Amino acid sequence: MRKKNNRPAIKPAKYLMYGLMAASLLLSGCANSDAESPGSDDYVVVGFSQVGAESDWRAANTESMKTALCEETGYKLIIEDAQQKQSNQITAVRSFIQQGVDYIVIAPVTEVGWETVLAEAKDAGIPVIIVDRMVSVNDYSLFKCWVGSDFKLEALKVCEWLNSFAKTNHIDSRDIHIVNIQGTLGASAQIGRTEGLRESATKNGWDLLGEVQGEFTKAKGYEVTFEILDKYPNVNVIYCENDNEAFGVLEALEASGKTVGSDITGGEIMVLSFDGVKSDAMNLLMDGKIACIGECNPLHGPRVRAIIDSLENNQPVDKLTYVDEEVFSTFEGISNIDLNGKKYSISSMDDEKLLERQKLFSIGAYTNETSDAY
Ligand code: AHR
Repeated sequence: MRKKNNRPAIKPAKYLMYGLMAASLLLSGCANSDAESPGSDDYVVVGFSQVGAESDWRAANTESMKTALCEETGYKLIIEDAQQKQSNQITAVRSFIQQGVDYIVIAPVTEVGWETVLAEAKDAGIPVIIVDRMVSVNDYSLFKCWVGSDFKLEALKVCEWLNSFAKTNHIDSRDIHIVNIQGTLGASAQIGRTEGLRESATKNGWDLLGEVQGEFTKAKGYEVTFEILDKYPNVNVIYCENDNEAFGVLEALEASGKTVGSDITGGEIMVLSFDGVKSDAMNLLMDGKIACIGECNPLHGPRVRAIIDSLENNQPVDKLTYVDEEVFSTFEGISNIDLNGKKYSISSMDDEKLLERQKLFSIGAYTNETSDAY
C-alpha cells in the first residue's frame, strides 16, 4: 500500500471530511479497504467532481477513477456527482476546498464559467487536475494539467470514414443527408464533435440538414429521432455524439419502421457514433447497425493517479495530455483513412476482440497490462 510521505500537519477541516470519506469508500468498490481511524493522515485525499451518470462512458470513467484511486493505492477519493449541473460542480469544489483535500479533480460538464472557483482553489493552494472535458480559461495557471480526448479529432476520423465509404460505394457527396444529435451543449465533447462534422460537411459537400439536442442520453436520442424523421424525411445518416444516443435512435428507427444500414441511397439510414465502451455498442457495430464508432476512452483513473504520483514526487507533468483513440467499423473495404496526410487504421471488431476489450472495462483497467494499453 502506498502511503503519502512528508505530509503537513492535518488540517482541522479534514476531521469532517473523514466521515464523508468513510461513506464514500463504502460505495467505491475498492477491494479490501482497511480504513484507518478518522484523523489518520496517511492517504492522499482527492476530491473528484464528476459530471453525472448520463452514459455508459461516464459509468466506466467513474469506475476507473474509483479503482485507480483507492486505499490499496494510497488514496482516498471523495466523489461528488454533479448530475450534469455546473452549479453543483462549483459547490462541490468549494466543499473540497473547505475540507482541505490534497488534490481536486474536475470532469467539467461544460467549458465556460470556471475562473472564479479555480482561483479559489489556487488561493487555497490545492492543485486542480482537469479530466475528460476541458475548461475554457484565459489563465492556464488556474489548473495544474488536463488529460482527456481530442474530441474534434474523433469527429474528423469518423467523418473521414464516411467520406471513404461514400467514395468506395460511388455515392455522390450531395446525396449524403445528415442530422447531428448533439451532446450536452457547451461540453468539449459536443463542441469538438459538432465542429468536426460541420467542417467535414463543408469540405466534402454533404447536406447537413440540422442539429438537434440529444444530451448524451438514450432517452433523448429516442425522443428526437421522431422529430428528425418528421422534419427531415430525406435524412440518410444520423450522427450521434455518443453511443447512448445511438441506442435510442436505433430503437426509434425500428419503431418507425425504418431500415438501418449502409444502402443510404436506397432508403436505409446509417448511424454513426462515439465511445465504444459498452459491449452493446460493439455488438451493434458487428451487426452493421452502427456503421462506425469513434472511440472515446474513459479509463482516466490510472492517468490521474500517475499525474498525482508525479506531483507528489515534485516531478513535472505535461500540461495537456491527449489520449490515443481508435476508430471502429466492421464494414469491409476501408482499412485506413487519411487525415491531413496522417494515416489512421480502422479497427475491426469480432467476438474475441470484444471479450478482450470488455476485460479492460470490467476490471477498471488498473493493472500494468491494461494501463499500458489504455
Ligand atoms: O466527455 C465524454 C463524453 O461524455 C462521452 O462521449 C459521453 O458518452 C459522455 O457523456
